[in-house]
Amino acid sequence: MATAGKVIKCKAAVAWEPNKPLVIEDIEVAPPQANEVRIKIVATGVCRTDLNHLLGMHKKGFPAILGHEGAGMVESVGPGVTEFQPGDKVIPLTISQCKECRFCKSPKTNQCEKGWASNRYDLMAAEDSRFTCKGKKVLQFLGTSTFSQYTVINQIAVAKIDPAAPLDKVCLLGCGVCTGFGAAVNTAKVEPGSTCAVFGLGAVGLAAVMGCKAAGAKRIIAVDINPEKFEKAKVFGASEFVNPKDHSKPISQVLSEMTNGGVDYSLECVGNVGVMRSALESCMNAWGVSVLVGWTEVGDITARPIQLIAGRTWKGSMFGGFKSKDGVPEMVKAYLDKKVKLDEFITHKMTLDQVNDAIELMKHSKCIRTVLSVSPN
Ligand code: APR
Ligand code: ZN
Ligand code: ZN
Repeated sequence: MATAGKVIKCKAAVAWEPNKPLVIEDIEVAPPQANEVRIKIVATGVCRTDLNHLLGMHKKGFPAILGHEGAGMVESVGPGVTEFQPGDKVIPLTISQCKECRFCKSPKTNQCEKGWASNRYDLMAAEDSRFTCKGKKVLQFLGTSTFSQYTVINQIAVAKIDPAAPLDKVCLLGCGVCTGFGAAVNTAKVEPGSTCAVFGLGAVGLAAVMGCKAAGAKRIIAVDINPEKFEKAKVFGASEFVNPKDHSKPISQVLSEMTNGGVDYSLECVGNVGVMRSALESCMNAWGVSVLVGWTEVGDITARPIQLIAGRTWKGSMFGGFKSKDGVPEMVKAYLDKKVKLDEFITHKMTLDQVNDAIELMKHSKCIRTVLSVSPN
């Protein structure tokens, strides 16, 4: 590659400060260092977590290049990289999988001690990055930064995928779809014949509905305060629809009455502590499992001790419990084998320079996912 070993100048959407539009800038991307891979990002989804960061949820962490749901091709590799070659199709991973640390070696978690996330939840990025703009260091949001035409990532946080994969679809496996699908399949471990409730029908919740369906759930109750989401939920396998605004009773009571005492599994895909409690209370007191999938930094969760003592389990799920480097290529294969839907999540297609329009759509819940084309394929 003509660019290997050189600084690349390219376009990226830079978040200079909270609550301001992103600015399309010319940035410099340094060559990959030891064990790093430089990737040309072809397409990226826009996720609510990008918006939440921009809205100042994480206070620090600026300037940064947002975007963490992308797919692209390897441009060049740094010393010590043997797994990747220029031209390989890849998906950047927000959770690394080094395969060597005690977390990676344990089947009980999908976290990894070596990635940016090991102690950087204040910045939502590592302290260092390969990006500069106007002489300033720019942070790599969630270790990925897919709103840039090029990014450099340690190979422990890059998944090589099937060369047949369409990058403008499989980019959604970088965050939302794996998060929701895996929360049902890996974390809740939904069983055939069971009854499930999914709260919140954005991309994450719809993917959770798809996961419940794939796991063989008999009833899947889709809950959202926006009834426009129900039609889409049906496409992914939801069988019943509840709008909390249509009821004067608490939603947990409504679900309990519909299911003779509560659902077997409930999944919170909103990111609201009140909804988290409702989801817990909606599951069967003797054996219900409730999973927190939505992410918020606002508020604390509470429950009455007896609600757990009686037999409920309250769990959380990050990236759907998938060990990232192993799981993402498997999900790509599942899409190519038509076992997982992706196209149905995509409501808008735009280019990187329209990123602020895409963020506005997300802010006003006018989209499921917008996919931006970032570099020419
Ligand atoms: N009860 C039920 N549904 C609700 C409620 C509520 N009280 N409040 C909001 N919702 C619905 C919205 O109407 C919307 O359809 O939750 C859905 C959330 O979807 P998106 O905003 O599109 O978010 P999504 O990308 O799916 O992410 C959901 O997961 O990863 C996290 O940060 C992310 O916390 C966010 C969550
Ligand atoms: Zn590890
Ligand atoms: Zn995300």
